[in-house]
Amino acid sequence: MAQQQKIRKAVFPVAGLGTRFLPATKAVPKEMLTVVDKPVIQYVVDEAAEAGIEHFVFVTGRGKGVIEDYFDIQYELEQMLRERNKNAELTLLAGLLPVAGTASFTRQQVPLGLGHAVWCARDIVGNEPFAVLLPDMIMAGGKGCLKGMVDLYAESGGNVIAVQECDPDQAHKYGIVGIGAPVGEGFKITQMVEKPAKGTAPSNLYINGRYILQPEIFKILETQERGAGNEIQLTDGMLTLAKAQEFAAYPFKGDTFDCGAKDGFILANLAFALQRADIRPAIEGPMKALLASLK
Ligand code: G1P
Repeated sequence: MAQQQKIRKAVFPVAGLGTRFLPATKAVPKEMLTVVDKPVIQYVVDEAAEAGIEHFVFVTGRGKGVIEDYFDIQYELEQMLRERNKNAELTLLAGLLPVAGTASFTRQQVPLGLGHAVWCARDIVGNEPFAVLLPDMIMAGGKGCLKGMVDLYAESGGNVIAVQECDPDQAHKYGIVGIGAPVGEGFKITQMVEKPAKGTAPSNLYINGRYILQPEIFKILETQERGAGNEIQLTDGMLTLAKAQEFAAYPFKGDTFDCGAKDGFILANLAFALQRADIRPAIEGPMKALLASLK
């Protein structure tokens, strides 16, 4: 097995407008909405850190400055916590703070699509393989999704995309892959199609928002024409790259919550709250009672 170059950097495209979640996202970025007691983006960053990521690259946009503040020291707050001997809170905040110099922020000036957002990170990523994590999607259960992909990448090299089963009726909402020969815990991808017309999807395995990509993708995205939704699509760029390089799929076995949508966000809150020993006892009974009271 060839030694693969370590995946050190991860790109988080956080410029999206959050139109599926208005009015909540009118003044608050969707990535800052809280699941139990952490912003959505923290779960995704934690998943990246678990997979060994050392540098976190946020592609932001106008109105997203609070994300940058969140990953910085809040001096007045910490000073106040120190004065009041709130040590547990101080330790919590310190544990979540990225080491200075390991978080970078750049702006996608115009919302031209996911492919364009990833391209905006090209200078910060440079000439090395990197991860992309869509910040709407929170994963739960078992080994972290990106960690599983990094393990597969050690065997497969090339590019790796996480996939998951979806209801075939929903396939037209996603990027869908075709299934090839097994490799490691996954399989080789034979086909990729972004938002296939109903009844034309090559499988029911959808791209769930986690990617390991080789840097050659940047050159392709630079001239990528607009595709589905009149946006510069990452999937279209990957299709071009797939002519020259291998793509493997990592089938993620846990749960994925689409926190950019109201139902996914609410389910994520319920699921994560029920995992918490400090919260579950207080909510389990009332939740059951609420369900039982439904007519
Ligand atoms: C994007 C990707 C798509 C993927 C989806 C997962 O689509 O282009 O391939 O399946 O995320 O959420 P979007 O949700 O931006 O339309």
